[in-house]
Amino acid sequence: MISKDSLIYIAGHRGMVGSAIWRQLSARGYTNLLGMTSKELDLRSQSEVLDFFEKNKPSAVIDAAAKVGGILANNSYPYQFLMENMQIQNNLIDASLKMNIGKFIFLGSSCIYPKLAPQPLKEEYLLTDSLEPTNEWYAVAKITGIKAVESIRKQFGKDYVSLMPTNLYGTHDNFDLNTSHVLPAMIRKFHEAKENNNTPVILWGSGTPMREFLFVDDMASSVVFALENKLPEHLYNVGTGQDLMIKDLAELIQKVTGHTGEIVWDSEKPDGTPRKLMDVSKMHELGWKHTIELEDGIAKTYQWFLQNINNFKEVKMR
Ligand SMILES: NC(=O)c1ccc[n+]([C@@H]2O[C@H](COP(=O)([O-])OP(=O)(O)OC[C@H]3O[C@@H](n4cnc5c(N)ncnc54)[C@H](OP(=O)(O)O)[C@@H]3O)[C@@H](O)[C@H]2O)c1
Repeated sequence: MISKDSLIYIAGHRGMVGSAIWRQLSARGYTNLLGMTSKELDLRSQSEVLDFFEKNKPSAVIDAAAKVGGILANNSYPYQFLMENMQIQNNLIDASLKMNIGKFIFLGSSCIYPKLAPQPLKEEYLLTDSLEPTNEWYAVAKITGIKAVESIRKQFGKDYVSLMPTNLYGTHDNFDLNTSHVLPAMIRKFHEAKENNNTPVILWGSGTPMREFLFVDDMASSVVFALENKLPEHLYNVGTGQDLMIKDLAELIQKVTGHTGEIVWDSEKPDGTPRKLMDVSKMHELGWKHTIELEDGIAKTYQWFLQNINNFKEVKMR
């Protein structure tokens, strides 16, 4: 049983998701949180991870550490995306099992589902067809993590669970236009165009694909929910269950940032999958639901962007 003074290790506590989990657990009165930077503890090293677990013996482990990146990075470094993610999660999962840790929460991503799976994506579609080739290295690593968690539940009856978030955004996001996701990239583009006398903003594709977005604090609240409750199955989708057209997202961000210029869609550029929406009915049935709607979340993210704009070079331009 987890209590407010249980030792909870958050792997990846400086990342966008890990830091949101840390803030939320602190705010709920958890007093014994543990985090290590990748310099202090390289999770790719099995011996370092085992030593760390033997020394600290956490009561619960949250795995928010991963090598993450966009299509370009995945395509350029397939081996690292496959191997480093497997090393990080294998070391954490295996050390947790060896040390008899009762609670483990593994974070994955919606890219684990087949490219052409029906929408909305249900948990049962896992491994029913081929993956999206551009990020299959990352997806295969995440799928092995899900299977490791499932096998531990099956064989040892432990309370280990995998949560699969939809597209996340929010404070501590990555605003580097070379590597960022669509939402933070749009915030930056609209902001810079506004500052530049409202020049037009050029966006990729037709603007017609449908996407779902979850504010990172809502993701963190799903992790807290999984920490405080014993979930009956091994795999859960986490999202809002609502999507919108990329065009509508652009208009929302334009409104929040105050840009008054034109939006130009470069339809020569690819659109990607027409729709990607999670079926979140399993989490809803258990009692978890998101609380931050998109416009509010974008406003919070833009505020954070403005407060941190001068630090990006050092902090988040990776
Ligand atoms: N962002 C999204 O839209 C999104 C969507 C779905 C799922 N997720 C999942 O959420 C999790 C966290 O993502 P994020 O966006 O928070 O990523 P992030 O901001 O890049 O953070 C990843 C963290 O992992 C740590 N890490 C990476 N390699 C490590 C290593 N070898 N040893 C120790 N620590 C290492 C980093 O630690 P240091 O800072 O100390 O280097 C970093 O804090 C991932 O599993 C990802 O798949 C994210």
